[in-house]
Amino acid sequence: MSVVISRREEPLRSATECDESDTSTGTHLRLAAMSVLLREPCVAFFGALDRRIHRDKKAANMTANPSVSSTVTTLSDWAARDLRCLWHPFTQQAEWQPLVIVAGDGNHLIDEHGQRYLDGVSSLWANLHGHRHPRLNQAIAKQLDQLAHSTLLGLSHPASIELGERLVALAPPGLSRVFYSDSGSTSVEVALKMAFQFHQHGGDTKRQRFLALHNAYHGDTLGSVSVGGIDLFHRLFAPLLFHTERVDPSLPALEAAFAIHGSTLAAFVVEPLVQGAAGMLLQPPGFLRRARELCDQHGVLLIADEVATGFGRTGTMFACEQVGVAPDFLCVAKGLSGGYLPLAATLTTEPIYQRFLGRRSDLKTFFHGHTFTGNPLGCAAAIASLQVFEEEQVLASLPSKIATLRAALATELGSHRHVREVRQCGLMVGIELGQNRSHSFPSELAIGARVCEQVRRHGVILRPLGDVVVLLPPLSITHEELLQLVCATRRALDEVLASLLSRDGQTP
Ligand SMILES: Cc1ncc(COP(=O)(O)O)c(C=O)c1O
Repeated sequence: MSVVISRREEPLRSATECDESDTSTGTHLRLAAMSVLLREPCVAFFGALDRRIHRDKKAANMTANPSVSSTVTTLSDWAARDLRCLWHPFTQQAEWQPLVIVAGDGNHLIDEHGQRYLDGVSSLWANLHGHRHPRLNQAIAKQLDQLAHSTLLGLSHPASIELGERLVALAPPGLSRVFYSDSGSTSVEVALKMAFQFHQHGGDTKRQRFLALHNAYHGDTLGSVSVGGIDLFHRLFAPLLFHTERVDPSLPALEAAFAIHGSTLAAFVVEPLVQGAAGMLLQPPGFLRRARELCDQHGVLLIADEVATGFGRTGTMFACEQVGVAPDFLCVAKGLSGGYLPLAATLTTEPIYQRFLGRRSDLKTFFHGHTFTGNPLGCAAAIASLQVFEEEQVLASLPSKIATLRAALATELGSHRHVREVRQCGLMVGIELGQNRSHSFPSELAIGARVCEQVRRHGVILRPLGDVVVLLPPLSITHEELLQLVCATRRALDEVLASLLSRDGQTP
């Protein structure tokens, strides 16, 4: 198979909802200071890295750093045992090469051979402040000494109450009630069921449908898959799913969808600003605000799925804030516990909560709850994570990091001939690879997966979405590490392309 090479000068990028927040006053100063590095970031970065590796190796007399190491070819004991008994999520087991992580250290993961990797996707978009953060570790240990678990079904515990208060104080206005669960998928299930039941209680019984975006991803349970729209993951399950109306993320399409379906919709469910798992697709300016208006006009509830975007990923605590939108439901998970423990929450408003009140015999109760809903250890980690936001001024540190990342991406990948588009919203990035600007690579080449395998040799862990390479580092990533992330990605891409071309007898 031959790979067609084409030239491209300008990065492809159109106006998006996310642009409203991507400038900061400190940015230009910071960029000026980093200009030498940014002019030739990879040369500068890897030059410095190679020197440091040399020094570290001499000092510690250790085996090589991953950026210069060879691939481990024989299976370790752990890897062999894994292959005998485990089944990994979203993983083709027949082609999988185990990598066993035994420790975390700040923004790095460490494998069983002692090799360190920058955690370029925050351990599946979850980790916020780095691994083994003392504040979170201590909070969990303290909670463990008191209570590891007790149910929230009919009982309560202090950590859930304190976290609930903090979330209400942080969330967009009007969201005053917190319902816990344990994953992003369940936080969405809860919102869908609450929205449905809300209308049933109100006598608006024809509102049984949901509106969702094409290519949406809201989780893997059947309700969240029903409002999802990623063919590759969801098509097979179609007979098991409830019908959902679909709309493209464009203002005219949204208006038309509400005009047609407005009177039968229970809710519109949307990832605000950026559709993560769809490949970091950015929404057009004004999209979420118009969605809020249309929901209000048509009596439809708005569910904001901030499982991926919440807790600083887009540059503000919640993505909704950037466009001044308060949803009727806010779904959070992943970063809620700092990325430490399975914890999720669905926040909603007082009018929605009130509609579920009555006597037991009225059967207005929300009959939904998971065993580990609001687990105390998870809540303790989440409280500590929110304290870290304050103590380390995490949100204030983000604009300059976002700018560093943007500049490095533009320099290294913006006009790369095999990058179709670089999409960035805060510290969430999708680098879409292709033969050229308008053609994707043949899917059987699995370029995205190859790049993410190759980048491990440069000390970085990434995970692709098809041929979109995702960069989604912890908020605690340093400016130097951001450059490492981008440069390693660029190097890995070039190496993969070079190996494909030489295999085909072409020169890169
Ligand atoms: C926007 C969004 N919603 C829901 C989910 C599902 O979260 P979980 O994997 O915790 O169930 C994800 C996961 O990536 C997500 O990105």
